[in-house]
Amino acid sequence: MSKSLTVAMIEGDGIGVDVSRATVAVVDAATSKTGAAALSYDPIQAGAGYFAQTGQDIEPGGEDRAGAADAIFLGAIGLPSVRHEDGTEISPHLRLRDKFGLYAGVRPVKAYPNAPQRLADPRAAGIDMIILRESTEGLFYSAAAHKRSEIIGDSEVRDTLRITRETTEKLHHFGFKLAARRKARGKPGALTCVDKANVFASMAFFRKIYDEVAPHYPEIETSYAYVDAQALNLIRQPWDYDVMVMENMFGDILSDLAGGLVGGMGMAACAEIGDHHGLFQPAHGSAPDIMGQDKANPLAAILSGALMLDYLAEKSGDNAYAKAAELIENAVQNGFEAARISPMEFGGTMGTEAVTKEVLAQLGAL
Ligand SMILES: NC(=O)c1ccc[n+]([C@@H]2O[C@H](COP(=O)([O-])OP(=O)(O)OC[C@H]3O[C@@H](n4cnc5c(N)ncnc54)[C@H](O)[C@@H]3O)[C@@H](O)[C@H]2O)c1
Repeated sequence: MSKSLTVAMIEGDGIGVDVSRATVAVVDAATSKTGAAALSYDPIQAGAGYFAQTGQDIEPGGEDRAGAADAIFLGAIGLPSVRHEDGTEISPHLRLRDKFGLYAGVRPVKAYPNAPQRLADPRAAGIDMIILRESTEGLFYSAAAHKRSEIIGDSEVRDTLRITRETTEKLHHFGFKLAARRKARGKPGALTCVDKANVFASMAFFRKIYDEVAPHYPEIETSYAYVDAQALNLIRQPWDYDVMVMENMFGDILSDLAGGLVGGMGMAACAEIGDHHGLFQPAHGSAPDIMGQDKANPLAAILSGALMLDYLAEKSGDNAYAKAAELIENAVQNGFEAARISPMEFGGTMGTEAVTKEVLAQLGAL
């Protein structure tokens, strides 16, 4: 039996609560199958609902407890009806990214059988790519902490797009290593630098650092794309891409587009990794339009749980967690292949509970 690890659990708002609970059920079933020590959870209150009650966006001491845990899991945070005075929403998770240096936002985009394909071309069945979104600076630099935007009375507001050498070097190394790990598993092994280097000095700098890092990974194929052209490419031939690395705001937008290509936000998993911490969350929000109705697709969260187990395997050196991650990925793949997973999000009949139950059944846990 391996040593028990702790996960800081921030369920958050709206469907975040339901998909977090679904994830815990699946993660616990998978770890018990592989003999990994059960994870212990440290629940932390945070979000728009908590802010509306208390005036604070996270419970006192919550950030430190999140930092002390072996990993952080987050459901979703924010409700459009709850806002700060400047009009922005409650978003302590952006501060966590900043505080814990979670620069590498890993967003897998994979087509599953019998899930909707938004593109008619049959090659869309082969979509299997990763958007690597820098997550601490770029155009979100001002948003990560309050008072970073420059507000000039009621006449002008300036947000800053920040690219640093330190973070960008780490990001590109992370991207090339990720492409190399995928190549070892039979994927193409390519890293595309998505930027706007034709217009912005910050983006030319981002590309320059990519060029400096690339020679360390001669086995990885390199290419460039301007972000506007890449939006087009992701509709025209998404199956041609393996890993794409980009600035924060570009990644924010393109990962929703890419999530849509393989069904919807309910399939969009996400890991945010730094040098010492990892936060895992579905890429979607709190979905107020469907909250409290058992309609949310929990798979983005469940697949984020698998990413978390992979991370914990690496962090702890205990391969039983990596095996548990693989069990979850196979359960989702097999459930779709057997046409036994049919989320309401795709016009099917299964809500959060039914999808979770089927994943547990595929794991052999029911
Ligand atoms: N990381 C986060 O916590 C995060 C991310 C994005 C948005 N938000 C917040 O969430 C709130 C709602 O934002 P939004 O509506 O722009 O984005 P959203 O992702 O919550 O919803 C967009 C659309 O996708 C659907 N959807 C999302 N997840 C789904 C799921 N798992 N299953 C089925 N359908 C799903 C929703 O019903 C909605 O139609 C806002 O307050 C926003 O700030 C939080």
